[in-house]
Amino acid sequence: MKSGTDRISGFPVEPWKITETEYIPEALEKNATIFFLGNGYMGIRGGREEADGSDGASHKGLFVNGFYETAPQIYGESAFGFPDKKQAMLNLPDQTDICFYVNADRFSLCDGEILSYSRTLDLSEGLLLRDIKWRSPSGIIVEYKSTRCVSLVRPHCAVLSVQVRLSESHADIRLVSKSWLKTVSHREDKSDPRTGAGFRHQPLELQDVKDEGSSMSAEFKTLNSGLVFACAAGHQTDENLEFLSCVKGDNSIDFTFTGTGISGFKIDRFITCCTSTDVDKSSPLIRAEKELEDIQNEGADRIISEHREHVAGFWERSDLQIEGDDSLQQGIRFNLFSVYQSAGRDGRRNIAAKGLSGEGYEGHYFWDTEIYVLPFMFYTNPGIAGKLLEYRYSILDAARARAEIMNESGALFPWRTINGEEASAYFPAGTAQYHINADIAYGVQKYVEVSADYDFLITCGAEILFETARMWMSLGFFSPEGDSFFINGVTGPDEYTAIVNNNFFTNIMAANNLEYAVITADFLQKTESGKLGQLRERLKLKVSEIDAWRRAFENMYLPYNAELGIYRQDDAFLLKEIWDFNTTPEDKYPLLLHFHPLVIYRHQVLKQPDVVLAEFLLGNRFPPEQKKRDFDYYNAITTGDSSLAPCVQSIMASELGYSDLAYDYFIKTARMDLDDVNGNVSDGVHIAAMGGTWLSIVCGFAGMRDYNGFLSFNPAIPKRWKSLSFHLKKEAEVLGLRLSQAETEYELLEGFSITFSHKGEEFRLKSGESVVIKN
Ligand code: BGC
Repeated sequence: MKSGTDRISGFPVEPWKITETEYIPEALEKNATIFFLGNGYMGIRGGREEADGSDGASHKGLFVNGFYETAPQIYGESAFGFPDKKQAMLNLPDQTDICFYVNADRFSLCDGEILSYSRTLDLSEGLLLRDIKWRSPSGIIVEYKSTRCVSLVRPHCAVLSVQVRLSESHADIRLVSKSWLKTVSHREDKSDPRTGAGFRHQPLELQDVKDEGSSMSAEFKTLNSGLVFACAAGHQTDENLEFLSCVKGDNSIDFTFTGTGISGFKIDRFITCCTSTDVDKSSPLIRAEKELEDIQNEGADRIISEHREHVAGFWERSDLQIEGDDSLQQGIRFNLFSVYQSAGRDGRRNIAAKGLSGEGYEGHYFWDTEIYVLPFMFYTNPGIAGKLLEYRYSILDAARARAEIMNESGALFPWRTINGEEASAYFPAGTAQYHINADIAYGVQKYVEVSADYDFLITCGAEILFETARMWMSLGFFSPEGDSFFINGVTGPDEYTAIVNNNFFTNIMAANNLEYAVITADFLQKTESGKLGQLRERLKLKVSEIDAWRRAFENMYLPYNAELGIYRQDDAFLLKEIWDFNTTPEDKYPLLLHFHPLVIYRHQVLKQPDVVLAEFLLGNRFPPEQKKRDFDYYNAITTGDSSLAPCVQSIMASELGYSDLAYDYFIKTARMDLDDVNGNVSDGVHIAAMGGTWLSIVCGFAGMRDYNGFLSFNPAIPKRWKSLSFHLKKEAEVLGLRLSQAETEYELLEGFSITFSHKGEEFRLKSGESVVIKN
C-alpha cells in the first residue's frame, strides 16, 4: 500500500506527459500549479472546470502577466526610502467555471463514484486534457473529456472544450457556465514570506458589463493601480444543447444551457483577456470583444491545431533529449515548457519567479530572469530574450528615480517589481541586492554576444549599461591611494548573509558591468559614433566618466584569504562562526522559517551559492584550482534553502569533475516541482530552477561555455544516460549536438559556418557539415 504522500506526489514516468491518475483532494492545490497553462501574457491555473471552490480543495487562477494592484505597504517601523506600496499580480475573475447536472445529479467528483480518471498535461501539444468516467448517485455513467488550451499563437485567447457522453440515452442536462465578475481567490500565508499577498480591499471595480446571447464582456479597473482589465467569453455547442438563459448577478453572469432526452453533448468555451498594459492602447474591452469574435469564427479545433503547430516548433528549437532516463526527461520537458509558457513576449512584461502558475512571490520579477532564464532563451528562443530585456529598458526611468531615492547616480533597478518600482519590503534581502544592476547588464552583454542583435544594443542596451555603470561609480569609491575600488553595504545573492562590505559576487559582476559599458562605448564610437553622440548628449555622459569606469573595473577590490587560498564571500565572512550543521535537525530547514535573520547572518552559512556562482558566470577570469578551492569551501556550508542553489552547484560540480555530486544536485533541480521537493508547489513553480535545469545540462554535463563570443564544450554526460541531444542557436547558426558515453557529434543544421572547441581542440563546420569526436 502506497503512503498518502506517495500518492500525492506521484506522476507516472512518461517522457511527454504529466498525468494525474487518481482524484486525490489533498493533491489538488499542488496540481493546480502543475497543470497551469500560459502563453507569456495570460496564465490559467489547473483548477477543475466543475469546481466552484466549494470543496475548498484548490484555488483557481487566471492571471495576466504584469497585471497588478497596489496597496499601502504597512511597516511596523518605517524609514526613508522604504517602498510605500506593495504590488501584487492579481488573480482575475475566473472564466473557466462549467458545471452541469445530469437529471438531478450534479457532476462532482466529491459525490457519486469515479470509475476511471486522468488529467494530463500533454507537453508535446501544450494542452491540458481530462478524461473521467463517473457514475452519478442515481447510476448514470458519465464520460467526461475536456481539452484546455491557452493559445501560444494568440496571446489574449484561451479555449476550453468539454465533451460528455452518457450511458443513459434520454437524460436531461442543465449546464451552467459562469463568468465571474470579481476576483474570487487569493492565497496568502503570513508565516511564509514566499507566498503571495492578498488584498484587504476588492481590488477590481466593474466598469462595464455586456451580455448578448451566450456571450459576455466586461471591463474592470483596479482600485489603486488604475489599470484596466477586460475579458470576454462566448460559447458554441453541438445541437444537443440549447441556450436557455443568461442571468447577471452581482458576482457572476451565469449562462444556462439545457438538453432534453440526450445521450451526450459538446460545449466550447472561448475566453479572451486584454488590458491597459498592452502595447495596443485602444480600448481593452473592444479588443477583447474583437478577439472573441475572431476565435469564435475560427472555431475551437482551428485554435487548438494552430497552437499545436506552434508547440511543435518550440520543441524543435528547444528540446533536450535524454536517452536512458525517462523520469528526468519528463522533469526537464515540464520545466522548459513552464518557462516558455511564462515568459513575457511584448517588451511590457517579464517572467515572474513563479511564472504564470501561482501567486507566490506576488508575481514579481527578480534577477532570476537574467541569470537563470535568459541563457535558455538566448540559445533557443532569442526573440523572447530580447523582449525580456526590452522590459528592463521600459522601467529604466523608474530605476533612475530609485537611484535618486537611494542617493545614487544613474539607475538602480528594483530587486523585485512588476511596474518598475522597488517592491521589496525587507531591504537586507531586497534593496540591498544591488547586484541586480550587474545581473541585468550581464544579461544585455550575453544577449548581444549570442544573438548579435546590435540594434538592441544601440536602442536599449547601451543606455542600460551606461546608467548601471554610473550607479556603481556613485555607490562605490576608490581607496585614498586610488588603487582599489570598494563597494560597501550590499547583500550578495546569498541571502543568509546581509549588508556586507565588498561582496565578492557584487564586486566582480560590477566590474564586468563597468568593463562592458566601456567596451560598448568604444564599439559604438567606432561603428555608430553619431548615435553614441546623441545618447551621450541625452545622458549628459562625459568622456571622463567613461575613463573612471575603466579605472574602477581595473582596480575592483576582490576580498581574498591567502592562507586558505580562497576568495572571501565578503570582507568579514570568514571571521564568522561556522553554522553548526551537525546539531541542526532536518526539520529546521529552510533556516529562514526557523531562525531569526540575525542568528543566520551571524554565521558562515549560505542559502545559495555566491562566490561559486560568480565563478560560473565569469569563469574565464579564474584558474581551475581557484574554482576548486572555492567550491570545496563554500559548497560545504551551502544549505540549498533557495531553489536557485542546486543548478549552480551541479554546474560547478560538473566543471570540477565531481560527477556524482553534479548528478545529485541536478536531480533536485530537474524534478523540483514535479516531486514538490520544497513542499511549496501550491504557490507556483520555481521558474529560476527550471531555467537552471537547462543550464545544468548544457553548461554542466555538456560543459558549454561562451566567453567573448566563442563556444566551447567539455562534455561528460552522467554514467546512466545513453545519450543527450539538443540544438543551440548562435547568431544565425544552429548547432545540433548529440553526446553519448563514447563520442560527441556536432552538426551545423542552419547557417554558414561555426567555430567551436571540444575539450580544447578547435573545430570549424560549414553548412550541413558534421563531425564525430571520440570522447
Ligand atoms: C532567492 C532569490 C530569488 C527569489 C525569487 C529567493 O528565495 O533567494 O535569489 O531571486 O527567491 O526566486
